[in-house]
Amino acid sequence: MPFDNVINGHPNDETPMTTQPQSAKVMTQPHVSQPGLPTTYYQRHVFFCLNERKNGEASCAQYQAQEAFDHCKSQVKAAGLSGPGQVRVNKAGCLDRCAGGPLLVVYPEGVWYSYVDTSDIDEIVTSHLKNGQVVQRLLTPPDIGR
Ligand code: FES
Repeated sequence: MPFDNVINGHPNDETPMTTQPQSAKVMTQPHVSQPGLPTTYYQRHVFFCLNERKNGEASCAQYQAQEAFDHCKSQVKAAGLSGPGQVRVNKAGCLDRCAGGPLLVVYPEGVWYSYVDTSDIDEIVTSHLKNGQVVQRLLTPPDIGR
């Protein structure tokens, strides 16, 4: 029966709650629960801004965001990281932090990255998405907005 696990409770409901570590090391356990929130379907969910403006204003699409997105998807798949309990990579429109673009954000940690090329994407995939280690050098500065 569809949604049976939602109605009757998820088998992982007994998973211990975890909290965000203080170090740069982030959670690597799939289907992590946080207090007051449902268990996550993906361990990590990545959103790439692919917004393209035709009015002359800068946008992530002007900086090879599509190429970076395609590269990330292929690298995640090649590493065997894609799917439920693991990693999902999705397109997004403008994330309203254009001055830091091109960029992406990784949830549930809410870590924002500003990248330059596919080698930066490789580092994010290997370090953060595979090993749970934030890539400090690529972090979008916290005060960067539109
Ligand atoms: S155009 Fe990419 S964040 Fe706005």
